[in-house]
Amino acid sequence: MYKRPFFFLLTLMVSFATQAQSLSGAALKQKLNANLQLAVEQYKLLHQNIPADRMPQNFDIKTGKMVTSNTKWWCAGFFPGTLWYLYEHSRDAAILNIAEQRLLQMEPQKHFTGNHDLGFMMYCSFGNAYRITGNPSYRKTIDTAAMSLATRFRPKIQSIQSWDSSKNFRCAVIVDNMMNLELLTWVSNNGGDPRFRDIAVTHANSTIERHFRPDNAAFHVLDYSLASGELLRKTTWQGYSDSSAWARGQAWAMYGYTTMYRLTKDKKYLDQANKIADFVLNHKFFPADGVPYWDFDAPNLPNELRDASAGSIMASAFLELTDYTKGARKKKYMSTAETILTTLSSDEYLAKAGTNGGFLLKHSVGALPLKGEVDVALTYADYYFVEAMLRYLKK
Ligand code: GLY
Repeated sequence: MYKRPFFFLLTLMVSFATQAQSLSGAALKQKLNANLQLAVEQYKLLHQNIPADRMPQNFDIKTGKMVTSNTKWWCAGFFPGTLWYLYEHSRDAAILNIAEQRLLQMEPQKHFTGNHDLGFMMYCSFGNAYRITGNPSYRKTIDTAAMSLATRFRPKIQSIQSWDSSKNFRCAVIVDNMMNLELLTWVSNNGGDPRFRDIAVTHANSTIERHFRPDNAAFHVLDYSLASGELLRKTTWQGYSDSSAWARGQAWAMYGYTTMYRLTKDKKYLDQANKIADFVLNHKFFPADGVPYWDFDAPNLPNELRDASAGSIMASAFLELTDYTKGARKKKYMSTAETILTTLSSDEYLAKAGTNGGFLLKHSVGALPLKGEVDVALTYADYYFVEAMLRYLKK
């Protein structure tokens, strides 16, 4: 049945061993508190390693190569966002100072309209900063960013356009876009323009209608005609194949619908998050240690790379889902989140102090088919790991 029985057996054994050691309750909280102390020191180091006009992008522990980005890169808001989470937890004055500096770097991007990633860029950063400080100038920045993102809504497609037209796509709408809806919905829910929430709801509904396979796994990219609004094809950019279930895409979809349920209380969003969770949890190649392979349909499973970023995002989403579910489902979500957090806290994934360029987690996969960011540290793996740890500690 399996082309590589040895690897399959090995993976099962490793997974079983890891699962057997999965922590929970006070023991896991103790471990997560230690991780967060480590994170505070790592992020001071990461700050030192990154010039004041750049943001961290990725780090390869094998070669020691650090890649930085400008503030238009879709991930640029994760570094300030993680710093704000770490400040919230530690109240460390040095971290606050760095968080304020790195936040201000992002401010000009409130006017950015070059892609759909304003939510990642401006809500993970300014959203957290505003939540923690209540600074009214941060709120103004969030409102402006929502206005910028709303310019990308395409009425004919009933969706927000993810990327501008290119030789690859005419009008791409990617499932990752579910993550940018929180910015829009939060602004409307908090006294801002109600049109933003309408756009977010319309986009979320279109995504439910068109973006999922019969088994509830999400396609990565839908490409439309801008002129007619016709859906031209279902395809991928970072996944293994056009119809494959790219792991981070599933994570974004599950997290995105969970957030939309929190913000609207529309039960169909919770149902959709549960359906995606069922796809993940019942998949024969969802590892017992909880950190997914980079694509659920990758050709050489289980001999494929893991994606720690997908694990972090899923852990955080599963923890929020425990607030909205009951019985066996709630229990399964909690135990899966605990398993993922335990695995990510192991030496295999968690960096030792002073290593990994200052990033926390190793072993994420950005875009394997494009040979980009393969088996490296990534800002969003750290961001959602820290978020998930804070969520668990509040339980
Ligand atoms: N576009 C977001 C991602 O690479 O996951």
